[in-house]
Amino acid sequence: MEHRRRLILAIFVVLLFAFCSGRELKVKHKHKHIDHFPIYNHTLATILVEYASAVYMSDLTELFTWTCSRCDDLTEGFEIIELIVDIQHCLQAFVGVAKNLNAVVIAFRGTQEHSIQNWIEDLFWKQLDLNYPGMPDAMVHHGFYNAYHNTTLRPGILNAVKRAKEYYGDLDIMVTGHSMGGAIAAFCGLDLTVNHKAKNVMVMTFGQPRIGNAAFASYYSQCVPNTIRVTNDHDIVPHLPPYYSYFPQKTYHHFPREVWLYNVGLGSLVYTVEKVCDVTGEDPTCSRSVSGTSISDHIIYYGVELMAETWRSCGIVMDSRVKEYGKTDLKGNFVLSRDPASPILKLKTEAYGGGNHV
Ligand SMILES: *[C@@H]1O[C@H](CO)[C@@H](O)[C@H](O)[C@H]1NC(C)=O
Ligand SMILES: *[C@@H]1O[C@H](CO)[C@@H](O)[C@H](O)[C@H]1NC(C)=O
Repeated sequence: MEHRRRLILAIFVVLLFAFCSGRELKVKHKHKHIDHFPIYNHTLATILVEYASAVYMSDLTELFTWTCSRCDDLTEGFEIIELIVDIQHCLQAFVGVAKNLNAVVIAFRGTQEHSIQNWIEDLFWKQLDLNYPGMPDAMVHHGFYNAYHNTTLRPGILNAVKRAKEYYGDLDIMVTGHSMGGAIAAFCGLDLTVNHKAKNVMVMTFGQPRIGNAAFASYYSQCVPNTIRVTNDHDIVPHLPPYYSYFPQKTYHHFPREVWLYNVGLGSLVYTVEKVCDVTGEDPTCSRSVSGTSISDHIIYYGVELMAETWRSCGIVMDSRVKEYGKTDLKGNFVLSRDPASPILKLKTEAYGGGNHV
């Protein structure tokens, strides 16, 4: 029985591999081992974390024109193509082109709906209650899945990626997000790879929760091998929903590859170690080796703040000058879009008197 199960699993994995990588199957087999060891690039992480931070900003004029207080430093020169605000589900994301990375960058905001404490408490009780479509045995939590697949985010993102590709050609695609935004980023990376045959998709998330079971994690890592899941010291969120090692078939299970940041030293001699973890997704010597108890470790990664300026409970601010770039649906969700071929919007921030609360 056990033997048969393994055989079925082995066949399944081979099919899975073919399913995800299509025509490149032969080439990939040769380099299979290399493929499954994404390289962690510290510089890239420090850049992408700034995008994951900027997407929390609620002033849409400043975000759309890339003039917000978090829209400088390593992300300077970024050109937004689309800014999507799902008012109904309190979600926000943008797509744009980072010429210095030669990539389309997609960033998703974390939760803004309730206090972060409430959101974390709820994470304990999230059930594996949805079968990932087309993938028997792969279970996920419906809320994480739906935040990407059943909101205005997905059509907005796909449309913007298409337009970016038409104008710029085949750029790399880098998908990022923090916390709940990391969970959404993972579903987006998988969707682009599996359903839209996008190549060169990399996903880098910061402090994301677990989103599915072991079968899902295995499926995910075959399809989007170029994924880095950064965890920070005692950050509580990567420990949730819980992993039960004595119940491996039924428990949540992280996908690889974790990179765990932790501090060593004492007093003024503290420095940060960046540990690249094993291929299991649940390396017991990484973040799982400590108790996940900290919310403050969840909020700051690489010295960058990952939350909104205030808990404004999904409020946004928008200036009439960018409204002409927007489209609103019947539910109040809207998208600001720019043609990549058009010149970048320049607004003088000094002349900008606060905007209207929407
Ligand atoms: C790391 O990423 C940066 C930014 O994209 C890039 O300039 C650099 O070449 C990368 N380093 C390696 C070793 O790939
Ligand atoms: C999608 O969302 C709607 C309401 O927002 C809900 O009624 C529907 O059941 C959801 N679909 C799935 C597949 O969960």
